Amino acid sequence: MAHVFVTGAAGFIGSHTVDRLLAAGHAVIGLDNFRTGRRANLAAALASPHFSFHEGDVSAPGTLAEVVSATKPDAIIHLAALVSVQESMTNPDLNYALNIHATHLVAEAARLHAVHRIVFASSAAIYGDASDFPIRESTDKKPISPYGSAKLASEALLLGHGAAFGLTVRCQRYFNVFGPRQDPASPYSGVISIFDRRYRDGKGVTIYGDGQQTRDFISVHDVARANVLAATAPTVSSGVANICTGRATSLLEVIGVFARHYPQAPAFLHGAPRTGDILHSLGAPEHAAAALGFRAEVSVEEGLSELIRSG
Ligand code: UD1
Repeated sequence: MAHVFVTGAAGFIGSHTVDRLLAAGHAVIGLDNFRTGRRANLAAALASPHFSFHEGDVSAPGTLAEVVSATKPDAIIHLAALVSVQESMTNPDLNYALNIHATHLVAEAARLHAVHRIVFASSAAIYGDASDFPIRESTDKKPISPYGSAKLASEALLLGHGAAFGLTVRCQRYFNVFGPRQDPASPYSGVISIFDRRYRDGKGVTIYGDGQQTRDFISVHDVARANVLAATAPTVSSGVANICTGRATSLLEVIGVFARHYPQAPAFLHGAPRTGDILHSLGAPEHAAAALGFRAEVSVEEGLSELIRSG
C-alpha cells in the first residue's frame, strides 16, 4: 500500500484518480480549495477510512509544505491547476500563480520532505497548433496560450528538480479528457461536457464549423488509471508521455452517439468556426505504453455511453 498525496483532489481528473487509488488499496491524502473542484466529487472517497482530506490552496504559502511534512507521502500527483485555457488568457497572473508557482512549491515540498515521486498533469496544449500527426513527445513545443506555456514551464521545473535531487518525475500530457464530473459551465468547457448537459436538458447543440474537426478524446477512467500507474508502478523512470488514445474522433461522430441515445433531441445547429480553433489533434500513444505500460482501453463510444447513462 502506497501513501499518495493528490492535489486538486476534488476536481474532474483528481476525484477519479482518488477513487481509483482507493480501489487499488492505497492510502490517499487529498488537497483542494473548491475553486473549480466540488465536494460532491469526493462523496465516495470521503466515506473511506483510507482517505484524508485537507481544504486549502496549493499556491498559499505553507499549505503544501504543511500537508506533505505531516503526511510523508510516497508520491505526489499534482493535478491542482487553473484548468481553463480561456481563463489563462484573461488572468495570466493567476495562471502564473496556480500553474507555475504552485509547481515549484510541489517540487520543493517533495525535495524537503523526501517524497520520491511526482506525477504532473501536463497537457497537449504545450504543442500548440501542431501540423504533423500523430503528435509525438518529440514534436515541437509551441504553446499558444499562457496555460500551455505554464504547463511546459512546469514540466521543465519538475524534471530539473528531479535530476538535481533524485526524484522520479512523470509528466502526463493529457489530450482531450472527457467523462462524468467534468464541469460544463462555460462555453469553453470541454465540448463533450457541454453536449452532455444540453442533451440531458432536452436542448439542441451547436457545432462550431462543419463538425469534421477531430480530437483524441480520452476517457477520464483511462486518465485516472494512467495516473495511478505513474504514481505507484514499482519501476518507472523520469520522463514525459502523451496520455491519449491514438484515435481521432470527429465532432459529427460524437453527435452521432448522442443522437442514438436521445432520438427525440432537436437537430444540431452549425455555428461559425470558433476563433483560434485547431482543426485536428491526435496523439501518439506508444511512448506511454513503453514507459508506463499504459494503453487507453475505453473507446469513445463506450465512454460516451457511460457518461450519458451516469447520474
Ligand atoms: C482546447 C481548450 C480551449 C483552447 C484550445 C486551444 C478545453 C476544454 N478547451 O480546445 O480552451 O482554446 O484547446 O487549442 O480545454 N465545440 C462545438 N460546440 C460547442 C463547444 C465546442 O462545436 O458547444 C467545438 C470547438 O469549436 C472545437 C471542438 O468542439 O472545435 C472541441 O472543443 P474543446 O472541447 O473546447 O477542445 P479544444 O478545441 O481541443
